[in-house]
Amino acid sequence: RAQGLPAGPGTPPAVGDVATASPLTIVYGSQTGNARRVAEALAQQLETAGLPTRLVRADAYATRHLKDERHIAVVISTQGDGEPPDDARAFVEFLLGKRAPRVPDLRFAVFGLGDSSYPQFCAIGRQLDARLESLGATRWLPRVDADLDVETASVPWLASVLDAARESLRPQAPMATVTPLRPLASAAPVHTREQPFLAEVLVNQRITGRSSDRDVRHVEISLEGSGLSYEPGDALGVWPVNPPRLVDALLAATDIDGALEVTLDGRTRTLREWLAQHREITRLSRPFLARLAALGRHEALNALLAPDRTAELAQVFARDQVLDALRAHPAPWTGEELVAALRPLAPRLYSIASSQKVVGDEVHLTVAHVEYSVDGSGATDSLRWGAASDHLARVAEGQRIRVFIEHNERFRLPRDGSRDVIMIGPGTGVAPFRGFVQDRASDAAGGRQWLLFGNPHARSDFLYQLEWQRALERGELHHLDLAFSRDQTHKVYVQDRLREHGARLHAWLAGGAHLYVCGDATRMARDVHATLIEILAEHGGVSTAQAQEQLNDLQAQGRYARDVY
Ligand code: 2AM
Repeated sequence: RAQGLPAGPGTPPAVGDVATASPLTIVYGSQTGNARRVAEALAQQLETAGLPTRLVRADAYATRHLKDERHIAVVISTQGDGEPPDDARAFVEFLLGKRAPRVPDLRFAVFGLGDSSYPQFCAIGRQLDARLESLGATRWLPRVDADLDVETASVPWLASVLDAARESLRPQAPMATVTPLRPLASAAPVHTREQPFLAEVLVNQRITGRSSDRDVRHVEISLEGSGLSYEPGDALGVWPVNPPRLVDALLAATDIDGALEVTLDGRTRTLREWLAQHREITRLSRPFLARLAALGRHEALNALLAPDRTAELAQVFARDQVLDALRAHPAPWTGEELVAALRPLAPRLYSIASSQKVVGDEVHLTVAHVEYSVDGSGATDSLRWGAASDHLARVAEGQRIRVFIEHNERFRLPRDGSRDVIMIGPGTGVAPFRGFVQDRASDAAGGRQWLLFGNPHARSDFLYQLEWQRALERGELHHLDLAFSRDQTHKVYVQDRLREHGARLHAWLAGGAHLYVCGDATRMARDVHATLIEILAEHGGVSTAQAQEQLNDLQAQGRYARDVY
């Protein structure tokens, strides 16, 4: 991994004794790393100020200590469907459950992260904030809900926690003796999320057949000269450029000249530049709709934002983009108002599909081009795209894109190469497993590899077919089970194959195998999870509750990891 990066959640700080210096305990739950980053920044600032602090990943937090805490900061994200991050599942269940103790001596601050284009925006943060209060704790600072542009909310929050901590916590020791959590910036990588690397695209190739519904691309990108490195399981962050056709349509819909100069937060750019590179236009948000409703005096739109209509709103979010909202609800926008109402653009993360042991300075991605007709007509003007996937689908070989590496310590091959691995990755969820298989083959790891892949049709959607077949022949892949969902009258999914091979699954896990799931979160990963419980119960001869417990244990040991979106 890159030198000098902060130790990730793979090495959570030890849970020390509490209440000695009564530190501020920072508990974080993070799926993609944003919450971890905020929690680490807070710990760093408190340490620098000489204030006692502990930083603990939620799954390493001993909940029995909660009643002894005096100050706690919870930094936690919410997944799109309103779920907690995997590493905070048990912590959230404990706090919201019946066993949570009364904590009248506790002061708390909650920082929630989420994506306001989902109706369950920051739901977990909100629930924990309300729950802690109902357990008798005192709200130390008002809760903050951070959108995709995390820094907008985190910078002021960090400052206010620091101020509050200076008042309430006793400095623990002279600053000189404070050991930082990790070495400071010295060897930080040159290229980061904020300072991305301008990387050349070497290969951009469609890998689904002509008859496929989906345009899935294999993209090879050069990291040469970047100083960036990654491990299988990491993600590549991509800063998109919004589809030019959508930018044009937005300018037309608002009837503002794209050359107009707009200044916001001290930056002046043309409106076209703001919309193309600095604002989210492919994902709607609640705040944007609220602003639109107010500006255009649209009562019906305003009513749609009521708390009891989240299901309807979710449908709007799933289909409509900013352009559709602007067309449906005219309002007298100025350039400044439009830019201020839209969210800052956020990078998209793609699971890396290669191992550096095999591809060297390159990084490979498997990208499904998100393109759909908003009204189902298929007319050119009705086409909508995902920002990054369209950018990647459009980028020609030889052109450059802005990238960075997002490390993911929770999705790692076993350190012990003799362990077996089971990889469940339908659709583009197969991406990280191409990297896994490459890596294990080049290490000549002793353990076995089992891949379960699914997609609509074998003929057109069998991603990396030749590579898997070659890996099977070479003994680098031991089982490949395929679920082509639409090649027969009834649907066949990866979990059906898993069920057919339930005995093998059980035996491999009993032998210490690691299990990975990558791909769609709301349907696939949920159904696979339920199937895993069924199989463990059936083949282990245990109850459903016990099987559930076993799966939780595997997760806690890092032997059941998910990279789902
Ligand atoms: P379908 O689109 O034919 O329903 C990759 O997207 C593959 O995952 C497709 O074959 C898709 O099938 C399948 N899929 C859809 N829903 C799923 C679910 N709930 N569980 C597992 N696979 C699913």
